[in-house]
Amino acid sequence: MPVVGIMGSPRRDSNTEILLDAALAGAAECGAATQKVPVCELRILPCTECYHCAVDGTCSIKDDMSHLYDVIVSADCIILASPVFFYGLTSQAKALVDRCQALWMRRRVLKSWTPDLESRKGALIAVGATSGPKLFDGVLLTAKYFFDAVGVRDFDQLLVRGLDGRAQVRDYPEHISQATELGRRLASGSAGDGCEPPSQTDSTV
Ligand SMILES: Cc1cc2nc3c(=O)[nH]c(=O)nc-3n(C[C@H](O)[C@H](O)[C@H](O)COP(=O)(O)O)c2cc1C
Repeated sequence: MPVVGIMGSPRRDSNTEILLDAALAGAAECGAATQKVPVCELRILPCTECYHCAVDGTCSIKDDMSHLYDVIVSADCIILASPVFFYGLTSQAKALVDRCQALWMRRRVLKSWTPDLESRKGALIAVGATSGPKLFDGVLLTAKYFFDAVGVRDFDQLLVRGLDGRAQVRDYPEHISQATELGRRLASGSAGDGCEPPSQTDSTV
C-alpha cells in the first residue's frame, strides 16, 4: 500500500521531516511502500484561480504538481506534515493543498473521480514552538478540507508543541516513537500483519 508523506517544512532535517521519516519507517515496517514528497525541493506554484480544473479536473499550471496529482490519487495513505507558521501551514505546503482544488473538482463537482473512502487513510503531523491551546486550530481546519478534497474521510494526528530549533525533536524520543506508531497504525489496515495495535499519539493531551 503506498503511503505518501508530504514534507511541508522549508528546511531539511527539520522537526517535521524527522517525525515524518519516523512515520514512514513505521509504515514500511508494516510492509507499506513509502514515498516522501519534500515540497521545499519542488516547484509548486500557487493556484491562480483560473478554474481550468472546473472544466476537466486538470490544472493549467505545468510544474512539479503535475505528477503529484497521480501520486496523491494512487496513494492508500497520505500524511500531511508541516510546522505551524502564523497558525497555518507553511506557504510551501499550502501551495500544494490549494492546487488540490483540481482533485476537489474531480471528486465533488465533475464526479470523475470516486476514491474508495473506506480504504484511504490520512494523518496530519504538525509541530509548533509555542504552547497555546489554539496552536493547531488553523492547520487542523485546513487539513480537514485538504483530506476531504483528496478522498480521505478521517485522519489521524500527531501534534507536537514546544519545538523551535532545527532537529530539536531528536531530544524527545517519545515524539519520534509516537510518529513511528502512527505510521504503523496507518499501514496496518491492509498490510499490517505483525504490527503493533493503535495507541494514543496526540502529544497535546
Ligand atoms: C515564519 C514562521 C512562522 C512561525 N509561526 C509560528 C506560530 O504561529 N506558532 C508557533 O508556535 N510557532 C511558529 N513558528 C515556529 C515553528 O513552528 C517551529 O520553529 C517549528 O519547530 C519549525 O518546524 P520545522 O523544524 O519542521 O521546520 C514559526 C516559524 C517561522 C519561521
